[in-house]
Amino acid sequence: MKVTVVGAGNVGATCADVLAYREVVNEVVLLDIKEGVAEGKALDILQKAPINGYDTRTVGVTSDYSRTAGSDVVVITSGLPRKPGMSRDDLIGINAGIVKSVTENVVKYSPEAIIIIVSNPLDVMTYQAHIASKLPRTKVMGMAGILDTARYRAFISQALNISQKEIQGMLLGGHGDSMVPLTRYTTVGGIPVTELLEANVLNAIVERTKAGGGELVKLMGTSAWYAPGAAAAQMVEAIVKDQRRIFPVCVQLQGEYGISNCYLGVPVVLGKNGIEKIVELKLNEEEKAMMTSSETQVREVMNVLEELNKK
Ligand code: NAI
Ligand code: 2OP
Repeated sequence: MKVTVVGAGNVGATCADVLAYREVVNEVVLLDIKEGVAEGKALDILQKAPINGYDTRTVGVTSDYSRTAGSDVVVITSGLPRKPGMSRDDLIGINAGIVKSVTENVVKYSPEAIIIIVSNPLDVMTYQAHIASKLPRTKVMGMAGILDTARYRAFISQALNISQKEIQGMLLGGHGDSMVPLTRYTTVGGIPVTELLEANVLNAIVERTKAGGGELVKLMGTSAWYAPGAAAAQMVEAIVKDQRRIFPVCVQLQGEYGISNCYLGVPVVLGKNGIEKIVELKLNEEEKAMMTSSETQVREVMNVLEELNKK
């Protein structure tokens, strides 16, 4: 199995490293537009192999898509990250052009690949890649929900002082402040979290999760990479190993949740064909209202992209 990661910056290099050391695939190609950066990081990951003991081949290339040919999965992380004061949506003008050209190159050399978008604004960049790739919606998806639920789960684990392995959670909606963490579907060792945490503590965790990306941007001056890179790698693993795991993933909705032609995070089964199934949960009135508000926010940015694409 072969995976390409486009963008050898913080998230892309982390994703490539996780794929390599966990031996998720035989070969990882890391591609960047900046001369030498992908080559250097791929070589560094390769030189770590004798220390950590893995056999994955890592190859770095500068803009040479012929070296990505025949990839089973491609992760696209190329684009600008957020700086303090910027929202994810502020990135659209620059990243839309990057995601379009990268996707076209990817599909030219790997027409069968499943594409995972990481670049922000995530939901709308997934839309852009879907248009540019002309692939079915089952093969073009965005990574955000695994990261957002990981943040949510980590905060719950801290609040309860219980292993993070015991915390399961699900969230819906766009990758932004309008995301919809589903406290009703959150469990700790099979016990509903609402039995273990006071409502005000849980609400504070939900709010911190929604602002989780911004919290890190404020601290570091750029956006996060360890958890995002690992989250994208987890999606790759589910696909290449046909694990059929359930994760929140951004996908084009076509009637599910009563929404059409919009890109939003929902629970899906991930396997060898990409999105094997979209899981539809029965939402209560409050959750439906939050989903509608998230849909409205994502559609506004989708409209901005559509205007940009007309130019
Ligand atoms: P970074 O700046 O460290 O890396 C981006 C890389 O993309 C750079 O090395 C740059 O040279 C490369 N690049 C730019 N244009 C390119 C092109 N046309 N072809 C190939 N490579 C190109 O940024 P970082 O931190 O890795 O973030 C990458 C993207 O991922 C950002 O848009 C960021 O907002 C997003 N992100 C999304 C997350 C999510 O949950 N979906 C989480 C974290 C980051
Ligand atoms: C994050 O959530 C900024 O999308 C990026 O960390």
